[in-house]
Amino acid sequence: MLNPPRHFLSLLDLTPEELKALLSRAIILKQMQTLKKKTHETLPGKILAMIFEKSSTRTRVSFEAGISHLGGKAIFLTPENTQLGRGEPIEDSARVISSMVDLVVIRTFEHEIAVRFANYSSVPVINALTNMYHPCQLLADMLTYQEHKGEISGKKVCWLGDGNNMCHSYINAAKQFDFELTICCPNEYKPDGTLLQKNKERVQLISDPNDAIENADLVVTDVWASMGQEHETDNRKRKFQKYQLNKSLLSYASSDVLYLHCLPAHRGEEISAELLDSPDTVIWEAAENRLHSQKALMELLLGI
Ligand code: CP
Ligand code: NVA
Repeated sequence: MLNPPRHFLSLLDLTPEELKALLSRAIILKQMQTLKKKTHETLPGKILAMIFEKSSTRTRVSFEAGISHLGGKAIFLTPENTQLGRGEPIEDSARVISSMVDLVVIRTFEHEIAVRFANYSSVPVINALTNMYHPCQLLADMLTYQEHKGEISGKKVCWLGDGNNMCHSYINAAKQFDFELTICCPNEYKPDGTLLQKNKERVQLISDPNDAIENADLVVTDVWASMGQEHETDNRKRKFQKYQLNKSLLSYASSDVLYLHCLPAHRGEEISAELLDSPDTVIWEAAENRLHSQKALMELLLGI
């Protein structure tokens, strides 16, 4: 490939400066979309291929709506309706699909699959969730924090629950957005050891939820059983009981705390119904921010 494309497989694929600029652009795009109702077709005629090997509501709708707002079009692909489901190698699929479109979004299981696709793609590839990372959600979370509380740099963030793909992306975010992260999870469900080791200056594991959340400016949780782990649901429910984010636990955080959940959520499990349905939660706004931040991401990757 003459000019290898830029991909967004993890937050580390953009520099801290680019991430900052992306959030500023997302704020402008949000204003154009929601306040001024101004058209902003910055990617006319661009085609986005969306390969989804797992279910999705927010990611699918935000990318499809987002590319349409920008003047382009999306093609939604699953293993069932493509040759991917019949075993066509990921490398061959990447070469062919990328020869016909301008941008690819992929949601899959092993992170390695997204990496292999990107290695053979002639156009930018965006990670729309793998077992390892969910970087697009972090763009929306960081945008939401910034809109409500200003810069996250220097703040204290607490991750509560499973050491999963979202948790791994928060570890990368701690580095890229310069905050301190405490992670509180059952022993058997700790995040990836290598990633922790690489980020040990700003990330620490704390086993007691009350201690981990103390003075936190942002608290984040997620489902206890991710997609692909459904068979572990009952076992996990027992082991994660004391990690529920609720009003009583949140009282240990900073009085100005914000809390997030990427959704879909299970009321009464990882988060109480009271917090999820609270009139002042920003969780729904963070979901909407997927749209605005990913529009800025698509522009950035396509060099607009
Ligand atoms: N948060 C998130 O990625 O939601 P979906 O699985 O609905 O896309
Ligand atoms: N950790 C969850 C996030 C869903 C958006 C999962 O991977 O299923």
